[in-house]
Amino acid sequence: MEKPVFNPWEVKGNVDYEKLTKEFGVTPLGELPSYFHNELLFRRGKIFAQRDFSRILDAIKHKKPLVMMTGLMPTGKFHIGHAILAKQFSFYQSLGAKLYIAVADVEAYHAREQTLEESRKNAIEQYILNYIALGLKPQNCEIYFQGERSSDGKKASAYYRLQNLLARHATFNEFKAVYGEITPGKMISGILQASDMLHPQLPEFEGPLPVVVPVGIDQDPHIRLARDMASRIKEVKLMQLSSTYHYFVPGLSGGKMSSSDPNSFIALTDDEKTVKTKVNKYAFSGGRDTIEEHRRKGGVPEIDVAYQWLTFFEEDDKKLQHIYDDYKSGKMLSGELKTILIEKLNAFLKEHQTKREKAKSQIEKFIVRD
Ligand code: TRP
Repeated sequence: MEKPVFNPWEVKGNVDYEKLTKEFGVTPLGELPSYFHNELLFRRGKIFAQRDFSRILDAIKHKKPLVMMTGLMPTGKFHIGHAILAKQFSFYQSLGAKLYIAVADVEAYHAREQTLEESRKNAIEQYILNYIALGLKPQNCEIYFQGERSSDGKKASAYYRLQNLLARHATFNEFKAVYGEITPGKMISGILQASDMLHPQLPEFEGPLPVVVPVGIDQDPHIRLARDMASRIKEVKLMQLSSTYHYFVPGLSGGKMSSSDPNSFIALTDDEKTVKTKVNKYAFSGGRDTIEEHRRKGGVPEIDVAYQWLTFFEEDDKKLQHIYDDYKSGKMLSGELKTILIEKLNAFLKEHQTKREKAKSQIEKFIVRD
């Protein structure tokens, strides 16, 4: 396997979640009120850690205003790994949270050498259309570009002003410690992301309120830095940020799904045949070498990518348990398991692609210009 890389701009190879949880100092998610179990990601522990999440639970309990804020890196194709975040959008919207979603076009410019125009086009075609098709609602939802926050001058200034002021409240050594390799552009991106996460609380936006940032654990360095800066800045009144961390959907052959390796993912625009070929050919199997051995010893669902994907996408707990039992006991073969996944994915994609076509006429309702 390729050499592992892990930083907010690049993740390659296996991710050691346990080690990162300790190293970063995030807290395991723990018990949640029962309505959280409606969302598979919470019910199955796919969202596994948090910072200051009790503030969010409190706001929900007392029906106080709250914001869910997150961002997307508008590079590459939208794949099923990205759907994890979209599911959380719908969940928080259903709880009454306002959504702020940043398109990280400035960050993509610095970290991926992608032009702002390419980012805009890709964000719309790949990300936003798919979010809409996955159930994102336009009410109480602001999608904006880092490079063009708002056509309302007061709001735009407030967002960029906050970024500028925050810069005083971190040291160069903290940047180096948090990010490892650093350039001026990446520093700017880190501070801009802090403004993404904190600006909803400015008087020009919602005022101080609880904000939850759902992300992959690779983004925690950005969050740590933002929290540190937020606790030091005196000029603006801010509540501390809350965050949650989800597991990544594994890549087809193991490791992390990567937008730059089309054989590691299923894109939401892939057709039936492609899905079938990719899963059959590349999905890492926890099955045994021969049928005879498989029947005798059973498969290993824990390392089987087809099974792991079903734990993210098969909503029915009983059905999933059945599949687990049959595979583990050797009753179900690896090929049969893959067929279940292929059918599941293709049924989902067929419906999704129709919705995505319809979403094209909706796009203007989602992108905020003022
Ligand atoms: N850095 C994030 C990524 O690479 C994108 C991002 C920008 C973001 N602003 C954000 C994520 C604010 C969470 C909150 O995917």
